[in-house]
Amino acid sequence: MTDYHVSALLMAVYFQGMDAAETSALTRIMVESGETWSWEDVDGPVVDKHSTGGVGDKVSIPLAPLAAACGLKVPMVSGRGLGHTGGTLDKLESIPGYRVQLTREDFARLLRDVGYGMGGQTGTFAPLDREVYALRDVTATVESIPLITASIMSKKIAEGVSALASDVKWGDGAFMVAYEDAEGLARSMIRIGAEFDVRVEALMTRMDIPLGRTIGHALEIQESIALLRGEPVDERLRELVTALAERMLVLGGLAEASGARARVEEALASGRALELFRANVEAQGGDPGVVDDPSLLPSAPCRREVPAPAACWLARLPAREVGYALIDLGGGRRTKGADIDRAVGFELLRRPGEEVAVGEAWCVVHARTEDEAAVAAERLSELAVWSEEPVELKPIVTRELGGDSVQHTKS
Ligand code: URA
Repeated sequence: MTDYHVSALLMAVYFQGMDAAETSALTRIMVESGETWSWEDVDGPVVDKHSTGGVGDKVSIPLAPLAAACGLKVPMVSGRGLGHTGGTLDKLESIPGYRVQLTREDFARLLRDVGYGMGGQTGTFAPLDREVYALRDVTATVESIPLITASIMSKKIAEGVSALASDVKWGDGAFMVAYEDAEGLARSMIRIGAEFDVRVEALMTRMDIPLGRTIGHALEIQESIALLRGEPVDERLRELVTALAERMLVLGGLAEASGARARVEEALASGRALELFRANVEAQGGDPGVVDDPSLLPSAPCRREVPAPAACWLARLPAREVGYALIDLGGGRRTKGADIDRAVGFELLRRPGEEVAVGEAWCVVHARTEDEAAVAAERLSELAVWSEEPVELKPIVTRELGGDSVQHTKS
């Protein structure tokens, strides 16, 4: 089929949807369009995690070593930034020397020696998804549940994992803004997974404000390292990383639901997860010195503090607009394949739910020039919504779907 035939088909699917049989047929031809991996030679359950993408979402970076420290093998094939959301590969590449072009053999070596590897989709891996994805991007047909399901699941099935913990985001900064759409996507992925022998469980999570205290590639690596070092980090970020690690352990058969949290916390507290992160950086060609010395990461020449207008609480900071503000600072792409500046970004000294004094800095902008810093600082000031009353954030995980046990709603 020519590109214009495929584009017409995509537009028809976008408006008409696909039934279950059609979605699974599309997934199958995407899987079969390239090589498929299997891991019989690997000693341990092979489980992965996936996120539908958000702003400040650096979860995969600490989660993969944490899961590996608990005994799982994680061949994580990640993506680059898409729209207003950041990409794990782009973030990892802020570590000097870190290499994300991995072959099946590279992954096999990493799983054996370290327990996890993090790479990008290669030309031979679900290549049909790459072609179709590029056409969806330019025909405004990305946000379609069957097309997203086939795209995500084809890559995970080809990756050869036995189970997948999926972080399905909803809210202003997610691709699926409405909860019902996000749940529809989660259920569709769970169903396709079952057909292809990949057990999928989904955590439905809020993406209405940025996740954690940093937005920007090198800054997010620093925050991930801080989490692995056991330093105080945003508790919503820690909660999500821990909850996904628990799910992965249960899916991999390494723990019962009741014992998983203790195992995960022990792997973090013992420093084993941090050591595996260090080993992975070294094994993928990066400078492991970043673990002890964050100044080895790229840093922006200009910093500007954003002061609070009054003594009050930060009530909201819309995630999607913060994502766009990062692109405007040079930290995201406007065109395919464009260069990005991995040093720029935002550091939230206060995040929504926290109190500030009048004139106190609540955010630091990291920028290439004073002018860009001033523009971004002004924009962040306009985006922030303040309250005279204390503001309590709702729990980040709103629902778990797909497990054997009773699904429960946390709020
Ligand atoms: N991630 C993917 O890999 N594919 C999509 O369609 C959306 C998010």
